[in-house]
Amino acid sequence: MTGEPRTGDVFGELLRDALAVATGIGPRPLAGGRLPRPVIEIIERDDGLVNGAPAAHYLDGPQDWQPHDHRAVDRVRGATLDVGVGAGRIALLLQERGVPVTGLDTSAGALRVCRRRGVRDLVHATVDEHAASGRRYDTFLLLGNNLGLLEGRERAPAFLAALAAVARPGAQVIAHGTDPYGTRDPVHTAYHEHNRRRGRLGGQLRLRLRYRELGTPWFDYLVCSPEELAELVHGSPWQLVDVDNRDAPYYLATLRLAR
Ligand SMILES: C[S@@+](CC[C@H](N)C(=O)[O-])C[C@H]1O[C@@H](n2cnc3c(N)ncnc32)[C@H](O)[C@@H]1O
Repeated sequence: MTGEPRTGDVFGELLRDALAVATGIGPRPLAGGRLPRPVIEIIERDDGLVNGAPAAHYLDGPQDWQPHDHRAVDRVRGATLDVGVGAGRIALLLQERGVPVTGLDTSAGALRVCRRRGVRDLVHATVDEHAASGRRYDTFLLLGNNLGLLEGRERAPAFLAALAAVARPGAQVIAHGTDPYGTRDPVHTAYHEHNRRRGRLGGQLRLRLRYRELGTPWFDYLVCSPEELAELVHGSPWQLVDVDNRDAPYYLATLRLAR
């Protein structure tokens, strides 16, 4: 035993347990032998910062969503790929509305939770791997802060190209991001500075997730301003055509396929 977490499907396990707590069906994580306890996603950052976030919101129905989630789904048109579908909260509403929606995720456990909740069309892959399927889409959703999947300056061009490879002419990306630079918390401002000094974008987070005895490998997750996003999109097959920041610091970015 090293005290280090075992690498595993953190998202899958925590969504499975969050569903068990929400429904009362299946084994639940217990405290004191009897009391079900809330499922907490532990997020570690490479400066030592640790945060805990309740996982239950991944199961939320539309009545509990943030306003920008509603505005995002209202912009959907045509065949839609929900990238990083999680527990399927967005895909379920789109299905109900008759939108042809595919949920894509790298977590096998998350996809099992989606299936149990009724999401019909699911793909276990990265966007890059999915290109070989020949399926093509009109809308890509990156919700729940999943603009973070751009990772940083190195990965963003390949990720945007992978989306373009599975896009139909005129396709759009609707992505939820958070502008990280409004904070005065010295823990965050020092981290942004440290990142810039090492050649990274200020909000290019280096994270790993933990749940119970499991952890993910360390990975980059991008929290960037709309101005930084515009720079990352420049020169890609996409154009940044709209930024809706009515819920600042959160924003919804819309990209349109340029060519
Ligand atoms: C923050 S959650 C967001 C879930 C969902 N979009 C929502 O709004 O509730 C991130 C999800 O993205 C998935 N994910 C992480 N990296 C991914 C990748 N490279 N490709 C596809 N999905 C990924 C995770 O497994 C997880 O289900």
